[in-house]
Amino acid sequence: MKDFWKKQLEKNEKLVFLAPMDGYGDSAYRQAMKRISPHIFCISEFYSADGLVHSKFLADSVLPHNKIEDPLIIQIFGKDPEMFAKAAKIIESEKYNIAGIDVNMGCPAKKVVRSGHGSSLLINEQTAFEIIKKLNEATKLPISVKTRLSFDGNQNLINFVKGLESAGASLVTIHGRTAKQAYTGKADFTDIYELKKNVSIPVICNGDILNYSDGMQKVKNLDGIMLGRASFGNPWCFIGEKQINDEEFLKKSPIKKQNFINGVYHPSLGEILDAMQFHAEKLVETKGEKKGSLEIRKHLVQYLKNFPGVKDYRKRLVTTESLENSLNIINEIRKNFEDFLEKRPSLGEIEKE
Ligand SMILES: Cc1cc2nc3c(=O)[nH]c(=O)nc-3n(C[C@H](O)[C@H](O)[C@H](O)COP(=O)(O)O)c2cc1C
Repeated sequence: MKDFWKKQLEKNEKLVFLAPMDGYGDSAYRQAMKRISPHIFCISEFYSADGLVHSKFLADSVLPHNKIEDPLIIQIFGKDPEMFAKAAKIIESEKYNIAGIDVNMGCPAKKVVRSGHGSSLLINEQTAFEIIKKLNEATKLPISVKTRLSFDGNQNLINFVKGLESAGASLVTIHGRTAKQAYTGKADFTDIYELKKNVSIPVICNGDILNYSDGMQKVKNLDGIMLGRASFGNPWCFIGEKQINDEEFLKKSPIKKQNFINGVYHPSLGEILDAMQFHAEKLVETKGEKKGSLEIRKHLVQYLKNFPGVKDYRKRLVTTESLENSLNIINEIRKNFEDFLEKRPSLGEIEKE
C-alpha cells in the first residue's frame, strides 16, 4: 500500500484529493463525496497525536471507516516527535486499515499556533523534520505533509520541503496562502510551481479551486489538486472531462453525462435530493441519531444553495432534530417539485415563483 498514489502518477494522471476539513469532514462526508466521485483520495480532518495516544476511545471512534473511503489518510497534529511515533503505531494497526498518515503543518488558528502545532512548524523547521523522521522509523505507512507557502512570508518553502523530503515525507500539499493570511486574499500557486522544480516527491496544490476543470487549468507541472470548500454540498465538483468520458467510471458513479456542461457538472434536483438523503442517512448511521441529525443541518442547506425554493425549506432544515424529520423535508421537496426533478438548479432551470 506504500505510496498508493504512485500507479496513477506513472500513468501521468493527476491526483485529486478531498481536503481535510475539521467540523465538516467525517466518515459520512467522505462517503457522500466518494459515492459520486470514487476517484478521489481522502485525507481526514486533523486529530491530535497526543489524543490518539492517550484515548483509545478517540482512536476507536475516528479510525474505523467504511470501505468506500479507502484508501484513507489520517491527518494528525502535534509537536512532540515521540508522540507522533506512538500515534503512528496505533494508526497502523491492521484493524483500522488506514492507508497513510498526513501531518498538519498548515493550520493558522491562534490556539494551534500558540501550542507549537500546525503552521508554527513552518518556523520550527527542525521539529518538523524530526516529526517526519520519527514517523518513518515508526511505521511503513506513507507520510505526507499539508502546509502553506510560509508562516508569514519570511520562510523559504523550497528549503522547508527539501528538509521534509530528506526526512522521509513522500507527498506534500501546499495551500497557496501564508499562515498569516489565514483565508484572506487569493491562493497563489506561483511558488508551488517553482517548488516542484526543486523536489522529487509529488506536490499537490490547494486553495480556491472551484472544480476539477478549474483544477486542471491550475495544476500545470504539479502532481495533483486538493479541493475543500468547493465540495460543500457539492460532491460533483470533482467531476471533469476525464471522468465523464470514462465508461468504467460511469458504472461506478450515478452521474449522468448530459449534466456535464462546459466543464462543470450541474446535478439535477433529483440527484441533489438523493445525495442529501444519502449524506443524512450515513451521518446518523455513523454518529447516532442525536449527534447526526444535528450535524446534518449545515450540510443539507449547502446542497440546496442554488435551489430557488431553498428559502421556504431552510428554516426547517436548520432546525431539524431527527433523521425522520430531515427525510420528510427531502421527500416533501421531491413531491412538491416532482415535475422539476430532472431540472438543474445551478443552471437556473427552476424559476423562482
Ligand atoms: C471548515 C474547515 C476546516 C478545516 N480543517 C482543516 C484540517 O483539519 N486540517 C487541514 O490541514 N486543513 C484544514 N482546513 C483547510 C483546508 O484543508 C484547505 O486547505 C483550505 O480550505 C483551502 O482549500 P479550499 O479553498 O479548497 O477550501 C480546513 C478548512 C475549513 C474551511
